[in-house]
Amino acid sequence: MSDALAVLSPVKLGPYKLPNRLAMAPLTRCRASSDGIPNALMVEYYRQRASAGLIISEATPVSPQGKGYPYTPGIYNDAQIQGWQAITSAVHEKGGRIFLQLWHVGRISHPSLQPDGALPVAPSALKPAGQASTEQGPQDFVTPRALELAEIPGIVEQFRHGADCALKAGFDGVEIHGANGYLLDQFLRDGTNRRTDAYGGSIANRARLLFEVIEAVSSVWGSDKVGVRLSPLQPFNDISDSDPRATFSYVVEQLNRFNLAYLHITEMGKEAPGAAGSAFDLEELRTLYHGIYMLNAGYTAETATAAIAEGRADLIAFGKLFIANPDLPERFAKNAPLNEPDFDTFYQGGAHGYTDYPFLAD
Ligand SMILES: Cc1cc2nc3c(=O)[nH]c(=O)nc-3n(C[C@H](O)[C@H](O)[C@H](O)COP(=O)(O)O)c2cc1C
Repeated sequence: MSDALAVLSPVKLGPYKLPNRLAMAPLTRCRASSDGIPNALMVEYYRQRASAGLIISEATPVSPQGKGYPYTPGIYNDAQIQGWQAITSAVHEKGGRIFLQLWHVGRISHPSLQPDGALPVAPSALKPAGQASTEQGPQDFVTPRALELAEIPGIVEQFRHGADCALKAGFDGVEIHGANGYLLDQFLRDGTNRRTDAYGGSIANRARLLFEVIEAVSSVWGSDKVGVRLSPLQPFNDISDSDPRATFSYVVEQLNRFNLAYLHITEMGKEAPGAAGSAFDLEELRTLYHGIYMLNAGYTAETATAAIAEGRADLIAFGKLFIANPDLPERFAKNAPLNEPDFDTFYQGGAHGYTDYPFLAD
């Protein structure tokens, strides 16, 4: 196998044989209805991208409480399951595979998005800097309510229920969203977790919720159809950790015991000037993990091919390139030019900037 084809070579992931090593990264696009039901436009969008080795769906709230952005699709009721069924069927008809990303945003929400205008919940009552996206436009974040110890089993149950709904919706697996400053990441990192109970303090305590969620979700799916996404250096959503190397080395080593489908590390923040722990070389994590390893952020055909050929990753997830290029594997194979992504239509609108990017054949 020549290096040039490394990213296009097949790979085994859980029970699946993927025809190539390009994953479509999870991408929130805010095209569902306001009550979180996937629609025909979303069917078309995912169908167009079925040649990815694996599609990871946009982040999808596992409960009304888990929602933090308008027009995101949910995975907790029958109407949403039905909407997703049309998507999974379309992807399967095209020969693709699709995992659903299970999401609880924690404090990255706003009372206007919460049931009964409630406060968003978090490990600790610490207000994030910045503004929430709401149906009324950007609004300042509020101070969230710290979850009671007695509420934590209910959070685990939300993820289990979401996983069960995803199974009914015909997905091939699920990815637990442990990244990017949302609820599970808020528990992991000490900038957002100031708890003094069994879910705060030591790294083992901060990681407890993630591991309980993995067990609950695996009880539905079998762990070999469950992936986990982490973002050790990501500063997005006002999150940080005083020692990301210690925190994430522990978490990643522990993940070996679950026999997951894959571990997905997004390297966002690696380059951020002054990022907490930027001295920490993320490549260390690869040596600690023994299963299928996916990397993300800023990869091109060349850098992805090098990462795979050199054994730094088994798969690469592409975000913006898949937004703009529905047929990305074919373009890589033919060394064809790429469409440019249109940032203005990332999180809003209809078909424009969503399903109207041209295919190579066009
Ligand atoms: C429009 C947009 C939406 C995103 N939505 C999600 C999401 O739902 N879940 C997630 O884990 N990451 C999300 N991300 C981050 C991407 O998965 C990915 O990490 C990021 O785009 C960097 O990869 P890239 O350089 O290949 O685009 C989003 C990024 C963009 C640009």
